[in-house]
Parts: sequence; structure tokens; C-alpha cells
Amino acid sequence: MSKLVICDHPLIQHKLTFIRNKDTNTKDFRELVDEVATLMAYEITRDIPLETITVQTPVAETPSKVVSGRMLGLVPILRAGLGMVEGILKLIPAAKVGHIGLFRDHETLQPTEYYINLPTDAPNRLLVVVDPMLATGGSAIAAITALKKRDCEHIKLMCLIAAPEGVKAVQEAHPDIDIYIAALDECLNEKGYIVPGLGDAGDRMFGTN
Ligand code: URA
Repeated sequence: MSKLVICDHPLIQHKLTFIRNKDTNTKDFRELVDEVATLMAYEITRDIPLETITVQTPVAETPSKVVSGRMLGLVPILRAGLGMVEGILKLIPAAKVGHIGLFRDHETLQPTEYYINLPTDAPNRLLVVVDPMLATGGSAIAAITALKKRDCEHIKLMCLIAAPEGVKAVQEAHPDIDIYIAALDECLNEKGYIVPGLGDAGDRMFGTN
């Protein structure tokens, strides 16, 4: 079974409080999401492998660690996922960025892919699917399925806030995927919003509400 990691660092929790606040304006909301994404990137990369090289300091030669192996790819789900990309890139500037766009099919009510563009070497990368809200899990499941269909196997999911329903759905559909979140909220309401959540992440990020 996959891991559910709740990134409960005090700075993340502090910033999340202001992200949740309905009176936080678009500019501050964006900046705070960006900062939390940077802090969460630290947690996401905690288990990436290191190798030892030799470095010459001004004083002596010494063995020292550098990141090795699989490079990272970020895959934001359009559009709200975009708001977390820059924050992660601050810590991992060499990461490549793909995009997935999904819409809800009116008949099946299932998330349906309308756009996907991935780095050509995506199957060789550790891909982090990024979406601020894990509500029903439908979009995250569809995005991960789309990546697996394209031979990507090393995938993590990173969200700001999750509902228990969404976590359960992703874990059932993709038991091999580790999920990183900053908060596990109470439930979904009848409109599909996470409670207490933060409202519509895309609207708040882009000022469209
Ligand atoms: N998407 C959002 O932006 N907010 C929610 O609460 C649920 C899904």
C-alpha cells in the first residue's frame, strides 16, 4: 500500500491557515501556495538517492554526496496545479514540466483528458503529479492513469489539501502511488468542495471568482 505523508511542518501549517482564509487576496494566496509548494518539495525529495563524489575544498579533498539517479518531472493538472510549479522549481530547478488537462464528461461524469504534453524522457523520471485539491480523487486518478499508459511508473502525487474520500479513491485505484499533502480535511460537501478546505483553488489562484 502506498504512503500517505502529511507534511505538517509548522511553517507549512502556518501558511496554510492564511491560504484557507477567505479574506486572503489573490496576490497573497498565490505567494503562499508557492511558498508551501517549495516547503513540500523538500518532503517529496526526502528519499531520492544520493551518490558520493570527491570534492576538493580549500582545505582538503573529501568524499561528499550529490543527488543521483532518476531526475524529476512535474506534471501539474490544469489549471490549479500550475500554481505549485514555480515553488517546486525553486528547489529543483532542473525538473522538467509536463501538463495534463482534464474536463468532466457531461454524460459519464468522468474526468476526460483533453491535453497532455510530457517531457520526452518522462518514463525515466520520477514524476510528481501536482494539484492543490484532492477532492473526489477523480482527476488525480485519471492523471496517474494517463501517465501509466505512457509507460511512466515512478509517480508521486502532491496536493495541498485532501478529503479522506479522495485519498481512499486514489489508494484503491493506484495502490503503488505515494501521496503527499499538507492537510487531511474532514469531508466533501454536496457540491464536491472539501470542508473546510479553501474554496475553489483555481479561482482563488487566478482571481476568477
Ligand atoms: N477543487 C477545488 O478547487 N476545491 C475543492 O474544495 C474541491 C475541488
